[in-house]
Amino acid sequence: MQPMSRRSALVLGGVGAAGVLVGATGLITGWTSGPAPANGVDFVEPKALRSAGGTLQTRLTAAAGPALIAGRNATALSYNGGVPGPTLFLQPGDVLRVTLDNQLNATTNLHVHGLHVSPEGNSDNVLLAIEPGTSFDYEYQLPENHPPGVYWYHPHHHGNVADQVFGGLYGAIVVEDTEAIPVSRERVLVVSDITLDAAGQVSGTSQMDRMMGREGAMVLVNGQAGPRVTSESSARERWRVINACTSRYLKLRLDGQSLQLLGIDSGRFQLPHEVEEVVLAPGNRADLLVTMVAGQSVLRTLPVDRGGAGMMGGSAASSRGADLLTLDVVGSTTSSTSLAIPEQAVPRDLRTEAVTGRRELTFAMGMGMGAGMMSFTVDGKQFDPTRVDTVVQAGAIEEWTLTNTSPMDHPVHLHVWPMQIVDPSRNGPPEWQDVVNVPAFSSVTVRIPFEGFTGKTVYHCHILDHEDVGMMGIIEVR
Ligand code: CU
Ligand code: CU
Ligand code: CU
Repeated sequence: MQPMSRRSALVLGGVGAAGVLVGATGLITGWTSGPAPANGVDFVEPKALRSAGGTLQTRLTAAAGPALIAGRNATALSYNGGVPGPTLFLQPGDVLRVTLDNQLNATTNLHVHGLHVSPEGNSDNVLLAIEPGTSFDYEYQLPENHPPGVYWYHPHHHGNVADQVFGGLYGAIVVEDTEAIPVSRERVLVVSDITLDAAGQVSGTSQMDRMMGREGAMVLVNGQAGPRVTSESSARERWRVINACTSRYLKLRLDGQSLQLLGIDSGRFQLPHEVEEVVLAPGNRADLLVTMVAGQSVLRTLPVDRGGAGMMGGSAASSRGADLLTLDVVGSTTSSTSLAIPEQAVPRDLRTEAVTGRRELTFAMGMGMGAGMMSFTVDGKQFDPTRVDTVVQAGAIEEWTLTNTSPMDHPVHLHVWPMQIVDPSRNGPPEWQDVVNVPAFSSVTVRIPFEGFTGKTVYHCHILDHEDVGMMGIIEVR
């Protein structure tokens, strides 16, 4: 391991707000001000680990140390030395066994974001704390009818989540289709952001950035800055895109190409439909088909206004735009070889089912302790791991109104059970997501089937800085 300065050791350890306070003009320069990152290198994907015979067994070692980021040797956090960690390919019905080895100097744990698995015991239990120098054996049993799609894993120990994800701890999970979708190639694109100082170490985060939700100076795809993808005219590729950014919203465009959306999160449409752009809040995923048109295109994320204007001296929580990758398509577009895409099972539609209960959850910001500090709450309370905030009966189908009384957007995530957006303003096919953005000063209504599992887990804002300061509650299904 390379020697680390005391400052970067603190950052990498996820010491939190009290440990690291960096001025806006100090160390947060980003590599963009140092030697240029390696643009235009060939696109790479994280190492693939595939299940066999119904099981995938692996070890993820979380550690601080050298990692290749934007083509240069950085000092970051990683699983097994890679940013991102390996991609886990699973089938419905599989068992996933992961030994998490915590070589960090801070407490961590593991969350399999979006998977419909038990939240108890050594399954997707984010109330566990895996201490430094120890390891833990997780085991996740996917149901036989687990929805195919793109999911991901990341740490979830309250208070350390934003620092650990921002530092480089994340990886993709793909649950394969039972009937393959005919494409010439599949790619996984883990989009993340990070700020590195001139020495290649992860920069600290100011108190203000934590309140607004930190955004990195660089936006990466699979740990690369501006990689180049090459393809052939008329080819149809499947791109699975994960927004693994700590707070940044993505508004993706690939002008000049034909984009179809197969689904968002675990939600799948019966047939893919053409889209011009896709907005992904932190934690969301898009399952895309790209039909290649000859020429050069750039996958971009455009700026997103996520509120906050007028707060705390006029700061706005805008996500800045960035170029993510360059696509070079060779050959002349003459024939289209589009094989038919099998119709997906008609998604369940809870708008036609009876609701067994209704409740409202309020996401708010208020004055907190200390000058300029804000509190982030759900139903007026900050997270308390010893308190159960919401009790739901197993098998219930509930309608939740998610209300945001604050001037910033909050992307609301519920573990284990996906949510169907049922706003009357949205009349299209059923939309199932596990992260639902609730814009500033507004409400979104969802319906949730609390089926398959019981136990305690959490709902929270997926701006991970907000989760860490308490915008999270515990739900128990029993
Ligand atoms: Cu997540
Ligand atoms: Cu939030
Ligand atoms: Cu979570």
